[in-house]
Amino acid sequence: MDHRDYFSDLARQPGNTALAELFKLTERPDIISFAGGFPGPDMFLPEEAAEVTRQLLVEEPYTVLGYSPTPGFSALREFLAERQSRLGMPAAAGEILVTSGSLQGLDILGRVFLNRGDRIIVEAPTYLGALSTFASYDVRIDSVPVDTEGLDTARLAALLEQLRRQDALPKLLYTVPTFQNPSGQTMSHRRRQKLLDLAGRYGFLIIEDNAYGELRFAGEEVPTLKALDTDERVIYLGTFSKILSPGIRIGWIHTAGEIIERAVLVRQAMDQCSNSLGQLLALEFGRRGLIEKQISKTVHLLGERARLTLDLLAREFPTGTTWTEPEGGFYTWVSLPPAVDTGRLLSHCIEKARVAYVAGAAFYAGKGGNNQMRLCYSQPSLDDIARGIPRLARALTTLF
Ligand SMILES: Cc1ncc(COP(=O)(O)O)c(C=O)c1O
Repeated sequence: MDHRDYFSDLARQPGNTALAELFKLTERPDIISFAGGFPGPDMFLPEEAAEVTRQLLVEEPYTVLGYSPTPGFSALREFLAERQSRLGMPAAAGEILVTSGSLQGLDILGRVFLNRGDRIIVEAPTYLGALSTFASYDVRIDSVPVDTEGLDTARLAALLEQLRRQDALPKLLYTVPTFQNPSGQTMSHRRRQKLLDLAGRYGFLIIEDNAYGELRFAGEEVPTLKALDTDERVIYLGTFSKILSPGIRIGWIHTAGEIIERAVLVRQAMDQCSNSLGQLLALEFGRRGLIEKQISKTVHLLGERARLTLDLLAREFPTGTTWTEPEGGFYTWVSLPPAVDTGRLLSHCIEKARVAYVAGAAFYAGKGGNNQMRLCYSQPSLDDIARGIPRLARALTTLF
């Protein structure tokens, strides 16, 4: 039986199968992968997680093994509200929705705000998962470039003026302002202020995805957009994926109570509630100070890996190549000479050099990125980085 005739328009879209194939390849032990944006295996606290899990199962088995309320356990919502407040973003528990990872948070917001044909703005490049989520809403997407100061607000202002003249202003702008995936760039304080001004002037909401914001290993702290927002325009997405575990699938939305109420209704039809064990593990990690412990361990390891990666890029990569210098997070973004096609070279680099990266084009809503690649330095060990970057450099050098 051929089921294809039954597929929805969405399921008929080609999607990014190349990426799924790549992730399969990167499971091969002979390949050094700079592809997947995962925490390194040595960043977790497995012994502490085992102890906390055992204790939870012994002391509160019914709560751990049962359903949880759709907005999340009240104790976790209170904990997250306090944590957000401590990080400069005053919150009440009713302004927090616990989600199954922050990507689900984005999907929930899509369902709350977007109708077919609505306009949104994203960064160029931007997080691939967000592009896939937005694709399911059949919205029109405009992109604004990111440079060393983050989203280019002068270009954004020009785009907004043009859209205003066409009576086509956007509803939402999605940004990863700190240690962006994929570019590693951070939006300056000045541009954050400018972005908030533009949101007020042109009447759009901002989704701030801060998956990496607490993972700074160099430079000066910059306040989140949510911390600078005086107008309730910023909807904040948080996650435990990079600071505790992506496997527990726990994130959160922090926004006005009336948006949370709508989001809860929408979420009931999706997965009803988040993983109970994951929520309680995150809460207990928080109460015992283990999240902060894991963050400092992770930041230390990221700093070492980023420095080695950047040093080796400078030493080994062909002339005419540039890369970003992140102050935190997981990624550096490499631009090769314009004639190089990183998508075409990828299978060669995997087969011949046994090194994987993600080709740049996947991170653009429109055209772009053919000569770029994302290197994620969080997962490989220092040894793997020391062997992998020269191998990748040699493979690239022989090709152009
Ligand atoms: C910018 C960004 N947002 C969200 C996510 C997804 O996180 P979660 O595991 O919480 O769904 C990622 C994961 O790579 C990410 O890079």
